[in-house]
Amino acid sequence: MRPLILVAAGGLAREVVEAVRAADPGRAVRVVDDDPALLRSSLHGAPVVGGLYAVHELDDHEVVVCAGNGRTRRFLVDRLLAIGVEPSRFATIVHPSVEVPASCRIGAGSVLLAQVALTSDVRIGDHVVVMPQVTLTHDVVVEDYATLCAGVSLGGGVRVGAAAYVGMNATARQAVALGSGSTLGMGAALLQDLPVGETWAGVPAVPIGAPRLQEV
Ligand SMILES: CC(C)(COP(=O)(O)OP(=O)(O)OC[C@H]1O[C@@H](n2cnc3c(N)ncnc32)[C@H](O)[C@@H]1OP(=O)(O)O)[C@@H](O)C(=O)NCCC(=O)NCCS
Repeated sequence: MRPLILVAAGGLAREVVEAVRAADPGRAVRVVDDDPALLRSSLHGAPVVGGLYAVHELDDHEVVVCAGNGRTRRFLVDRLLAIGVEPSRFATIVHPSVEVPASCRIGAGSVLLAQVALTSDVRIGDHVVVMPQVTLTHDVVVEDYATLCAGVSLGGGVRVGAAAYVGMNATARQAVALGSGSTLGMGAALLQDLPVGETWAGVPAVPIGAPRLQEV
């Protein structure tokens, strides 16, 4: 197993360290972060070895970007590609408690934490974060840079757009679509399509606040 670099030394990186240790206790894990104050600190024993450019120098390492927000992940991935990091270096991290059926696909740079359930024909894109105990049923599609918080449940054929954010324990009725860059609040029950860039919450989910103009 190649050594691993985690980009962005936050809470998600600590969760990924735990997932990697559970899967492969011997795997070397290093962390990079552009905050100089973090240099020579460590996350559960994984040392912070420098800023983003260290990813380019440690070119035998696989890489996972661990920013909790999908748009920040996209920004950091774009910066890594701009400094010459090969896309083939992005690793997929799956906690060993997760069973991935043969009909399901998970993209590069994506993270699945403990006890995520995938049933059949689920497609997860690149640089997606799926937090613990999320349930993705048949034919769910999760596009690149989306974030699914703990306990989310999606009915069959739900599509989650790029960089959408789905709060803890939110649910979506089968076949609905969450637009790119949209946000579904924690605990929501989504019964119809959620438009691009909007924030909805509640049971049933309805728009809250003014529509946000997000780059999607
Ligand atoms: C939906 C969400 C993004 C809105 O955040 P926000 O833009 O800061 O909104 P505010 O807290 O200012 O709330 C705006 C209004 O929506 C309501 N609201 C916020 N979140 C809500 C939710 N999940 N369900 C129902 N109503 C909600 C507030 O009560 C408030 O109502 P009011 O205008 O009548 O007072 C946020 O509340 C949320 O659910 N985030 C997900 C959190 C999460 O899952 N974190 C996991 C981290 S690992």
